[in-house]
Amino acid sequence: MTKRIGLLTSGGDCAGLNAALRSVTLHATQTYGWEVYGIHQGTAGLLEDPIGYRKLTASDFDGRVLRQGGTILGSTNRGNPFAYPQPDGSVVDRTQEIISNYHKLGLDGLIGIGGDGSLAILRRIAQRGEIPLIGIPKTIDNDISMTENAIGFQTAVHVATGALDNLQPTAASHDRVMVLELMGRDAGHIALHSGISGGADVILIPEIPFSFEHIFNKINSVKKNGRNFALVVVAEAVQREDGSPVMIEDTKGSQRYGGIGHYVAEKIEESTGAQTRHMILGHLQRGGEPIAQDRVMGSVFGVKAVDLLAEGKEDRMVAWQNRRVVDVPLNEAIATNHMVDPKGVFVETARALGVCFGDQ
Ligand code: F6P
Repeated sequence: MTKRIGLLTSGGDCAGLNAALRSVTLHATQTYGWEVYGIHQGTAGLLEDPIGYRKLTASDFDGRVLRQGGTILGSTNRGNPFAYPQPDGSVVDRTQEIISNYHKLGLDGLIGIGGDGSLAILRRIAQRGEIPLIGIPKTIDNDISMTENAIGFQTAVHVATGALDNLQPTAASHDRVMVLELMGRDAGHIALHSGISGGADVILIPEIPFSFEHIFNKINSVKKNGRNFALVVVAEAVQREDGSPVMIEDTKGSQRYGGIGHYVAEKIEESTGAQTRHMILGHLQRGGEPIAQDRVMGSVFGVKAVDLLAEGKEDRMVAWQNRRVVDVPLNEAIATNHMVDPKGVFVETARALGVCFGDQ
């Protein structure tokens, strides 16, 4: 009997998702002869009437899609179906609708591409609805446990490195300190990696507490040693000295990280006298063309996820470990976040290059 599987992308988008969608579709249809139903906008497509989905075939992927950022299925990082917001401000549990629409489509399994939050929600739905689920890790933040790489991370680092490449000449032309604020949610992976590859003098990440005194000393010593500019990278979740995060509030009252770069830049200018500018790189890190590594990772993960369903496995996440694709228990992968190791190779490398983390 032909199997029919559902496929969705959930949570914040990133580069490389389309490579994963292509990989699942090509492998499922060509190797196994299955049908693939792509659900629109994460689980939101399963809350629509009529159900928001499209059948995916190899011909959907014979052109530019592999090269495109974003996700052709759409995604959402709002509207948790366990607490779905209503117009009057209350919330309702709509997961039963998702489960019954999943069964209405006659699906035999689901591949969900998401970050830790979306995978946790998908897992709860799958448990409740007895849905065979395989997760594929994606997030620019690279904070999912048990996998060295999530789809989207490498492109985000590439974009952030490009930003530092572009900031350096203008910083040098004007004798300035440039402060670049980067995404990553509560983890500092993007800031750390791009700070190394983009030649930052200071890298501030939430995993390493800092004091401004050390940062000012570093900027002053760069100047004293004859260099007329400095580059500072700040992860968005870095907090003020008193431990308070810097947040932006949207029109609906929900808060997200944003603004710590501005705060740090002002402090540097005040104390060192160096003319300082700041920028928030923001969603440029999520958009844009996926670099080769994310296309390869998406392809590897997609094939593995299909194979796992074919083997009758469920409640697993595909993962990249020690140069191999493996599968790990989904509940363990989402139980904790993978944060920067302050004693790990990347921090140690940066320190050896003279980078200041603000702690010494
Ligand atoms: O988790 C991915 C991410 O891009 C974070 O790095 C960032 O804090 C957040 O999502 C931004 O979310 P939104 O797109 O809702 O502004």
